[in-house]
Amino acid sequence: MVDGINSWQPLSEPVAAAMRQVPRHLFVPDASLEEAYSNSTVVTRRDQDGIATSSSTGPGLMGAMLDQLQLRPGMPVLEIGAGTGYNAALLAALVGPAGHVTAVEITPEVADDARAALTAAGVTNAEIVCGDGEYGHRPNAPYDRIIATAGAWELPQSWGDQLAEGGVLVAPLRIKGLTRSVALTRDPSGVWRSHSALNCGFMPIRGRGAMPERNIRLAEDLTVRFDDGQDVDADELRRVASPPGEVRWSRVLIDRPLDLLDLYLAELDGFCRVLASASVTERGLIEPVAGWGSMGAATRQALGYLTKRTSLDNQYLDELGVCAYGPAAASMLDQLTERVDRWRRTREAIAGVRIEIHPPGRGEVADALMTVEKRHSRVVVRPRQESERRAPQPG
Ligand SMILES: C[S@@+](CC[C@H](N)C(=O)[O-])C[C@H]1O[C@@H](n2cnc3c(N)ncnc32)[C@H](O)[C@@H]1O
Repeated sequence: MVDGINSWQPLSEPVAAAMRQVPRHLFVPDASLEEAYSNSTVVTRRDQDGIATSSSTGPGLMGAMLDQLQLRPGMPVLEIGAGTGYNAALLAALVGPAGHVTAVEITPEVADDARAALTAAGVTNAEIVCGDGEYGHRPNAPYDRIIATAGAWELPQSWGDQLAEGGVLVAPLRIKGLTRSVALTRDPSGVWRSHSALNCGFMPIRGRGAMPERNIRLAEDLTVRFDDGQDVDADELRRVASPPGEVRWSRVLIDRPLDLLDLYLAELDGFCRVLASASVTERGLIEPVAGWGSMGAATRQALGYLTKRTSLDNQYLDELGVCAYGPAAASMLDQLTERVDRWRRTREAIAGVRIEIHPPGRGEVADALMTVEKRHSRVVVRPRQESERRAPQPG
């Protein structure tokens, strides 16, 4: 498993060593050995609707997040979302016998299973606490490192309070439905600044800090998902989302990830994830850009999203397109095309993003790609230029 991950995404030596040491199958006892040692998420609990509520995160992503955390032996660490306990065991291996891991899990049975797995694996420097991670775990604070392994809509005050000065916090932060695992440090003025940001997906945090996403199911194979409290009428959307749609091709080849384009799209009114399987084409709808669906936008008058076809110029690559349905399809196509065009013009120069979390009412930044108001903070996403790629990172 570790060799496989290393072949496409090199892990640091300590993280790779921890992964070789901790037997993942003890933490996912219902999975086959093959599944336990593949680079995939293993779902361990689902709710009555079949939605996953607990899992062992894919080891490749977990390893990348552990590298973002910059752990050293002897550190006290807090994890929010203990799940199976596998990551707590990796953290325990990384901080060694002089360090300590406190992992908070909201579901009592999940916490019990994680405790049993840690015992079976012989881990003695990690403890599972059952509770809502919104409050951290004050008795063992301060922590040199805090890592959340469930999607946070906003950073709770307690995480900042319980992090030691100069400490690093890694959390999958939800920004208008896009999730980035950000490694953050806080400056003296109270602003959190990222020194790395990875594209990822996580189940949302539950409990007091929950901010449910809104799912509008338009058909068996088509759901539109909104985050950050966007308001759209479900019946209107159902009327709008019917064939035939209109397509506009861009001549832009899909030769790199679409992460930056997603951020440009996220500024649109009605930004959403269109969760659609390829089978929607059998009902006359247009193929979404990815296997899970596509990023898009939905308003009272139009539904639009990204699509693709085999390039006419290069049979090995796909060409990006935009499609839209409804009375305002033409204007939706214009807006989507403008974003694709901006992505085409800037994608060579922008190497990634910096994410900042400011106290409420602050954080007016001239070069922001996006500014999102949360309940108690303002999230600012800024471009990281290609020319900065080799600049030293803080933290
Ligand atoms: C993706 S799983 C975590 C994977 C885990 N780190 C592992 O190694 O297996 C997310 C976990 O977060 C838990 N969770 C969700 N909201 C929480 C909260 N507010 N406090 C603590 N745990 C929470 C869920 O019950 C679930 O077990």
